[in-house]
Amino acid sequence: MPAISSSAPGKVILCGEHAVVYGIPAIALPVFKVSTTAKVFAHPLFEPGNVHINAPAIALDDSLTSLEQGHPLKIAIDLVMRELGVDHIPSCEIRISTTLPVSAGLGSSASVTVALVRAVSTYLGHPLADEIVNQIAYEIEKLHHGSPSGIDNTVITYGTPVFFELGKTIEYLKIASPFTLIIADTGIKSSTGAAVAGMRERWNADPTLYNTIFNEIGSLTLKIRKYLEEGSIEDMGKTMTENHKLLQRIGVSNDELDILVKSALASGAWGAKLSGGGLGGNMIALVHPEISLEVSQALLRAGAKNTITTVIPSSSGVRL
Ligand code: PMV
Repeated sequence: MPAISSSAPGKVILCGEHAVVYGIPAIALPVFKVSTTAKVFAHPLFEPGNVHINAPAIALDDSLTSLEQGHPLKIAIDLVMRELGVDHIPSCEIRISTTLPVSAGLGSSASVTVALVRAVSTYLGHPLADEIVNQIAYEIEKLHHGSPSGIDNTVITYGTPVFFELGKTIEYLKIASPFTLIIADTGIKSSTGAAVAGMRERWNADPTLYNTIFNEIGSLTLKIRKYLEEGSIEDMGKTMTENHKLLQRIGVSNDELDILVKSALASGAWGAKLSGGGLGGNMIALVHPEISLEVSQALLRAGAKNTITTVIPSSSGVRL
């Protein structure tokens, strides 16, 4: 039976995670090498209204009606139905598969929501516009992470490098020359919600200190934007490493991430930092493409459970 299929990428944050929650700009890039696909198979022979969801990555294989009320996938589907003004979905099976590691700073929750919302709205005959997909994905991010900035759902919905600042219009970034990133997984699952909540506690205890550091991070984001626009890739690497040092100071790195950052730099990377919520999950290293294999092997020797090498293409700053 033909299926409706939609995909969404993963993402990395090049600069500004955590600070972005406090109104500081950040830069995020979609990563298409990892992705989520949601497929909807119509099942006219199922009982009317029977919607079955199969999502092995989150150990889910059940009917929509048996999910608890607050389940993020159920709420995402409810929001699509409300948006389209429909009160039931014709019988179907929804299969969600993802190559993104879960709770690892690569945006798996937003990627799943965006793919699902697109597939279900298309199945219902009205593919939703990106702006609405993004709004729904943001609502679901709140369920997952408490008080997210909205950067993950934005970069994943639009699939374009973004310069993101809370409450401001999204800016698509110009990237003058392609560059190579190695994404290395510590293998430690880390909840973004917990990392953001811990950060909030520290900020509450000393807002002056943390605001000062966040402002320094904001200056690095602006520098990186300029380097991206000029194609000054090596300079960008140094600035990423400076960002990592500030992320250490705000308490969101850990030994495993620090070891991977050190190892990437020791094996010749231009720069390296944790990416995402931290306290586990992934780090990114910016490398000359010729040494990507070497750096990747060094990262694996230093304890990375997996590495992904990806080329971020140049982009015009205008969404195609
Ligand atoms: O969801 P993650 O782990 O990729 O991190 C998101 C980035 C944070 O700045 C830590 C949180 C946010 O909502 O912006």
